[in-house]
Parts: sequence; C-alpha cells; structure tokens
Amino acid sequence: MSSSQKSFYLTTPIYYVNDAPHIGHAYTTVAGDVLTRWHRQKGESVWFLTGTDEHGQKVLNTATKNNVSPQDWCDRLVEDAWKPVWKSLNIANDDFIRTTEPRHMERVQRFLSDLKDKGFIYSGKYEGPYCIGCEEFKLPGDLIEGKCPIHSTPVENVSEENWFFKLSHFVPALIEHYKANPDSCQPASARNEVLAFLEGGVQDLSISRSTFDWGIPVPWDTKQVVYVWFDALLNYATAVGVGDDPTSEGGKKFAQTWPCDVHLVGKDILRFHAVIWPAMLMAAGIEVPLKVFAHGWLLVGGEKMSKSKLTGIAPADITDHFGVDAFRYYFLRAIPFGQDGSFSWEDMNARYTSELANDFGNLASRLIAMIEKYCDGAIPAVPATAHDSILESALAETVSKADVAMCALDFQGGINAIMDFCKRVNGYVTEKEPWVVAKDETRKAELDAILYNTAESIRALAVLLHPIMPATTQTLWSSLGIAQAIESQKISDVARWGQLKPGSVVTKGAVLFPRLEEKQ
Ligand code: MSP
Repeated sequence: MSSSQKSFYLTTPIYYVNDAPHIGHAYTTVAGDVLTRWHRQKGESVWFLTGTDEHGQKVLNTATKNNVSPQDWCDRLVEDAWKPVWKSLNIANDDFIRTTEPRHMERVQRFLSDLKDKGFIYSGKYEGPYCIGCEEFKLPGDLIEGKCPIHSTPVENVSEENWFFKLSHFVPALIEHYKANPDSCQPASARNEVLAFLEGGVQDLSISRSTFDWGIPVPWDTKQVVYVWFDALLNYATAVGVGDDPTSEGGKKFAQTWPCDVHLVGKDILRFHAVIWPAMLMAAGIEVPLKVFAHGWLLVGGEKMSKSKLTGIAPADITDHFGVDAFRYYFLRAIPFGQDGSFSWEDMNARYTSELANDFGNLASRLIAMIEKYCDGAIPAVPATAHDSILESALAETVSKADVAMCALDFQGGINAIMDFCKRVNGYVTEKEPWVVAKDETRKAELDAILYNTAESIRALAVLLHPIMPATTQTLWSSLGIAQAIESQKISDVARWGQLKPGSVVTKGAVLFPRLEEKQ
C-alpha cells in the first residue's frame, strides 16, 4: 500500500461529555467500527476518528452542578467513562479528538480567521430561542408549547451581539451539490429532508456567544467564544491537520484523508452536518465530505433513548449478560440502518440463541468435535475434486452480496447475507450426515470431504464476521489452527476454496456463545 494512497476516512459524531455513554451513542460508534474494520479487511488504508465535544453551555452547566471546573469534569468523564467504554466494546479507532486539545483549538481559530478574511463573517445581533440540550438556536416555529420537541425542556431566550456566518450565501451551492451527488447524503429520506430545508430558506448563523466563557475564544474578539457547534464540526478536519503546511505532518495527513468518506451521524444532528458543515467548508474553499449518513434512533417507549429523560441504558447492562460481540451484532442485525428501532430484551435473547449460539456457535463446535473424533484433530487432506462446488459458489455469491451491502452501510443486508450462508452450511451438514458416513470405514474419503468443506465454510464465516464480532471470531480462528492472522485475510480472497492446510491441528476452544443464565 503506497503512503500516498487516500485512506478511507470515517468519523462518528463527537459526543457531549455531560454524561457517560449509553447504548444510543454506542450504536453509532459500533457501526463506525464495523464499517472501518470491513474496509481494513478489504486491504484498504483506513482512518477512523471519534472523540468528545467538550465546550458549550450544556457541559459547563453539568460541571457547575457537580462543583468542578469544566476542564476537570471533561478530563474525568473522558478518562473514566468514554474511553473505557469504547475499549470494552473493542472499538479500534485510530484517533480520539477532544475539542479542548490545543491541536483543535488552534486550528479552529485559524479556520475562523480565514473565513473572516474571506468576508464570510460579520457582526450582528441575535435574538431568539436557544435549546441548551441541543445547543441550537431555534426558530419559534420549531417549538412545542415553548419547549424543545427533542428534550421537552423550556428554551432560553438569547439576545446578544454576536459574530455571524453567511450561511445563506451557500444555499444555492448546497442544493446543487445534493442534486448532483445524491449519494452524498443518505438515506434518501435524509437527503429529501435536507433539500426541503434548504429550499425553505436558511438564515445566517450566529457563531459566537458572549454570556459565558467555556469555549474557544474568537481570535479577534476574545470576549466572545466560538459557538459550540461551529467548534465541534471542525473536529473532523482539525484532527487530520486542516490548514497545516502541506509539507508538515498535519498537512500530509490531511492530503491522505480528505475529503472525508463517511460522516456517521444520528438523524437529530443531520442538518448541522449536511447544511452548516459543508457550507463552512465551501467558504474555506475545502472539498465537502463525500457522504453524510444519518441513522435512526434507538427508542424506549417510542421516544429517543436519552440520559436526560432517564431512559439511557449503559452498554455494560447488556454486555454483562450477552457479551460484547452479541451487542455489536444485535443492533446492526436487527435494525435497518437509517431507521428507528426499539431495544427489546426478548428479541435480543431470541436472536442470540437462534442465530449466534445455534446457527453459528454450534456449527463451529460440532465441526471441531467431529475433526477431533474422526480425523485425530487434524484438517483432513482432500483432493481438489472433493471440493463442494455448490457451497463454493454460494460463498462467492455471499461475499459479493455482503461486500456491496456493507460498503453501502446496509449492515443488516450484509449480516443477513453472511448468516444465510451459515444456515446453508448447517443444511449441508444435516444433509450429508457425517456421523452416519463415519460408521462405514470404506467411506472415509467422503467423510473427509464433508468435514473439509464444512471447515472451509467456517473459515470464511470467521473472516466475514470478524469486523462485526472481532473477539469471538478470533477465538474460532485460533481453534481452526490457521497460522496467518485473521486480520490479514482479505475479503476479496475469502471465497477461494481450499485455503485450510491439511494436517493443521484444530483445538476445542471456549464456547463461542455460552448458554444465557436466566435473567432475574
Ligand atoms: N456533540 C454533538 C455532536 C457533535 S458532532 C460535530 C452531539 N452529541 S450527543 O452526545 O448528544 O450525540 C451524539 C450522537 O449520538 C448523535 O449522532 C446522536 O444521534 C446519537 N444518539 C444519541 N442518542 C441516541 C439514540 N437514542 N439512538 C441512536 N443514536 C443516538 O449531538
């Protein structure tokens, strides 16, 4: 891979650190992790960024309520809550940006000064409602009985002399962009929403606040701090060196990652990402992102799950019972990405048992047990003519179907394709009845062929499921006794039949998906 090759660059939103992560946050981050692991498994250079959004009134108010300075509060939450949760979920991000880091603050100030020099920033007076939960200036028509419809909390009335960004200037260019590049905002419902919003008329945006000081100072007017969203959106570019000298480390990183391939966001923050953010980039003369993808919400009682409404479920509440890999699998498998979905303990229980423990886990453990019993624990040697061409072509079809779906962020479609193949392999074993064939010594070659073909299928399943369930598939990989690392296995090569080396020793590993204890 040459160092000048553009990396597949994916970002998650940066999360507010007013509280610890719940499974709604984990949903976005796991999706990002699965997609970037898939691209790595394709042999691509990948850059995966996540981080935390630390400025603004929301975080400041929480810190104040807890009698600590906002910086101490952020440090504590990042180190004790956010980073450990991502580690526990096996998130393989390449970088973690905090908006209080100097690398971010300096680049934000430089970006803003540049926009001012280019004539896109002017001073004005802002008057109107503001929701601290959303950190968003609202229009009176957005409110329901004076409250924010997302947070159900009263809004503040802001009246301030602020700096404004000429957002309205970019509306025609944005409309043209989305019409010419329909894939750049997905799903289609999200793009339509953005287009309708743009066509309905957009006002200029206040991008500074003067009534509190927890933020990045406006470089030419240090009584004001940069509006938290203007600061936060820039993280995607500041983390990879925007504005740095092209020959410097940062400049090279920027050339290698920009434009960003996918910004993953929840649908509640779509407009920030599909209207304000690309307009900021257009103003600076920087390429806009290739894709903004808005996923749906995890719902509780029909409403967006949130800590502020006390409906947040911590990832550990689920992983303690089902394990990390089942958690990573479940939400992407059960909910079409882009739509809302409800978390249900019963549904997760049912899928865990039927899809993971029975279809996948049992298939693997039965195969290993049969190789131990009938082949002295070693992968049998079989001639190429014994390869099962039906399974082989089903696998090739599975790989291409899964790859198309995963790259289109259709995680459910991708996982379904892989699990359909798993079912097919179960059907193959049931139909071939190796335990019956084993009773007849003259049929040893047939038995070896059945076990070899099943083992090959399981090798492929391990690789294809690795981005989704990295730990379990690694355990399986080790028990298949394959010398090369599972990470080195390329998606494009998975369907090549006959990769298992005859004679390599299999071992019975830990049960992949243990029986669930009864939940009290
Ligand atoms: N700090 C901003 C994002 C700035 S990005 C430049 C923010 N933070 S957040 O912590 O409130 O939310 C971060 C992400 O978590 C959003 O994409 C949001 O949609 C997602 N989720 C929060 N609750 C969720 C659910 N209940 N379900 C699914 N995703 C949810 O917004």
